[in-house]
Amino acid sequence: MEYMIAPLTPHTGAEVRGLDLNEGVDTETRAALNRAFAEHHVLVIRGQHFTPPQFIAAAQVFGELFQHDKREMHVPGYPQVYYVSNEQTVPGKRYISGETFHTDHSNHPAPPKATMLFPVSLPSYGGDTQYVNMHEAYDDLPAATKERINGLRAVHVYLSKYSPRELRPLSEDSARQVPPPGVHPLVRTHPENGRKALYLNPVRIESIIGMEDEAALGLVAELMEYATQEKYEYRHQWRYGDFVIWDNRSVIHKANPDYDMNERRYLYRLMLKGETPA
Ligand code: SIN
Repeated sequence: MEYMIAPLTPHTGAEVRGLDLNEGVDTETRAALNRAFAEHHVLVIRGQHFTPPQFIAAAQVFGELFQHDKREMHVPGYPQVYYVSNEQTVPGKRYISGETFHTDHSNHPAPPKATMLFPVSLPSYGGDTQYVNMHEAYDDLPAATKERINGLRAVHVYLSKYSPRELRPLSEDSARQVPPPGVHPLVRTHPENGRKALYLNPVRIESIIGMEDEAALGLVAELMEYATQEKYEYRHQWRYGDFVIWDNRSVIHKANPDYDMNERRYLYRLMLKGETPA
């Protein structure tokens, strides 16, 4: 199969054209895609046509499925496939999941290495997903800041009391299955590309070991402000057929609620198992 992989920015994102993942991929292509994923952090594989089982099969080119904490939020008839939708609500208002920068499910001892989306319904404009590169941000930090944060460990809970936004409540069954908090380094090393990255999630970080909460929150806010500069960003403008996979060890991301909420935005979503951050 003839295909090409081309960078979307100098630091983050690559576009793959000429592959139909429903035809299956041979060992060599699978290895090339996984190498490109570790190098570019976000892959946009264009021109796909997936039913939920086909989406699962495509995801498995990159790893093993990871169960969403909110088990009840799956595509009807497909318990393994989750979704994001602008039709959800929390009491009294519309709920947009992923509306502020975060990395997925960092409350787990071994958080998912990757997340994938595939659009079913898109607004006519807007609704982009924004990514920022946490390797680049880490590399550029002043030496004194690197020294200050290397070795610090943060406690990630399901929903931090300091979170900038709400999460929808879990069903009783899902709540029972949430693991104990993940305690993770603020700086982690990517197991495949060997680069260091900031590992931050204001939605889930509730404390940093050995620091007063006020100082810990101040540090997370300072690092987030640094990391979310536009120069580290790849902003994905959705097209039908885009299979997008991102590396939760390299980028943080957010959903953009800048579109007409009378239009439907609905995407299938899957995650892949990762390792304990180190
Ligand atoms: C997410 O945070 O996983 C969803 C991102 C999006 O809806 O663009």
